[in-house]
Amino acid sequence: MILDELAVPIVLAPLAGGPATPELAAAVSNAGGLGFLAAGYLTEAALADQIARARALTSAPLGVNLFVPGNPAPPGAVADYAAMLAKTASEAGAELGEARFDDDAWAAKLDRLAADPLPVVSFTFGCPERPVIDAVHAAGSEAWVAVTTPGDALTAAAGGADVLVLQGSEAGGHRSSFADDPADDASGGFGLLSLIQLVRDLTPLPLVAAGGITTGGGVAAVLVAGAAAAQLGTAFLRSPEAGTSAVHRAAVATATPTAMTRAFTGRLARGVRNRFMAEHDRDAPLAYPEVHYLTGPLRAAGRAAGDPDLVNLWAGQTHELARELPAGQLVELLAAEARTALAAASARFGAG
Ligand SMILES: Cc1cc2nc3c(=O)[nH]c(=O)nc-3n(C[C@H](O)[C@H](O)[C@H](O)COP(=O)(O)O)c2cc1C
Repeated sequence: MILDELAVPIVLAPLAGGPATPELAAAVSNAGGLGFLAAGYLTEAALADQIARARALTSAPLGVNLFVPGNPAPPGAVADYAAMLAKTASEAGAELGEARFDDDAWAAKLDRLAADPLPVVSFTFGCPERPVIDAVHAAGSEAWVAVTTPGDALTAAAGGADVLVLQGSEAGGHRSSFADDPADDASGGFGLLSLIQLVRDLTPLPLVAAGGITTGGGVAAVLVAGAAAAQLGTAFLRSPEAGTSAVHRAAVATATPTAMTRAFTGRLARGVRNRFMAEHDRDAPLAYPEVHYLTGPLRAAGRAAGDPDLVNLWAGQTHELARELPAGQLVELLAAEARTALAAASARFGAG
């Protein structure tokens, strides 16, 4: 298993939408962790290009993450929301995009990874059908599946996953939930420590823990709880190798709280609070990726104008602790902090 070969049990989270770059993935892998590319929103050709560039920068293992496609929203589901956003768009001097459905080039990306595999393929938004997992295995790759509940963990384990990526509710970005069900919103979802303990009790599969980890103490905590590695996303958003936009970088460095919202994409995600979220969250329909495409040009205009109030500022709950360091140095620092934290925790039992 790749996890057993890592010098440092730290995995870079896939960061679709700009922050994930070949340089960032390679830097984490070169430092002894596991770097990840994010296939989400890329064309198959762009994915192939990113894989080639990452391979040119490292000979260490790499992973790639794919979005499992969902179903189109009912006809007209987005019309009222589009009408509401029209004023915000015209004030920003931007057009709204076409609220269309697509499957993110799912088959083409799978074919590409079957023909030219990477050591790890991870999936979010669902557990792929068995033939997909079998094809990943046949290509010599490990299949990792992200889950947010004990029930989804059991489904993924039964479906052939080699590793479960546990995403706690602290996490930045989209929830990896198999079903984006508003009925679950009231609970806020499982916090990471609860999720690790519950899933550890259900399956012997190796666990990778994600959500709100930005310090070595956080890395140590999830290892002690039973994870084989920690997966960090927000912690790397300020690294120079990341493709994070300027407005996003600045927001990550503030102490502004985060919240979950469907306002930007039609699917629940956590980001730094801003005006767009406050004004539109309660009206946003459950329609992904239709709302993602609808708001895309508006968000791009916000990034270009340096207006954080129009941009999806995905970040986890501990974002203000993210450090502005080259990714390799950050991996080394996190590892050193984790060793210190583990020794201190162990010493608490020493006197007994
Ligand atoms: C900007 C951003 C983009 C993300 N993109 C993806 C993605 O493409 N695929 C995925 O499985 N998770 C994605 N996530 C979620 C991460 O995999 C992970 O669960 C999260 O970063 C962990 O929480 P943290 O950000 O507090 O470290 C993204 C998160 C962020 C912040």
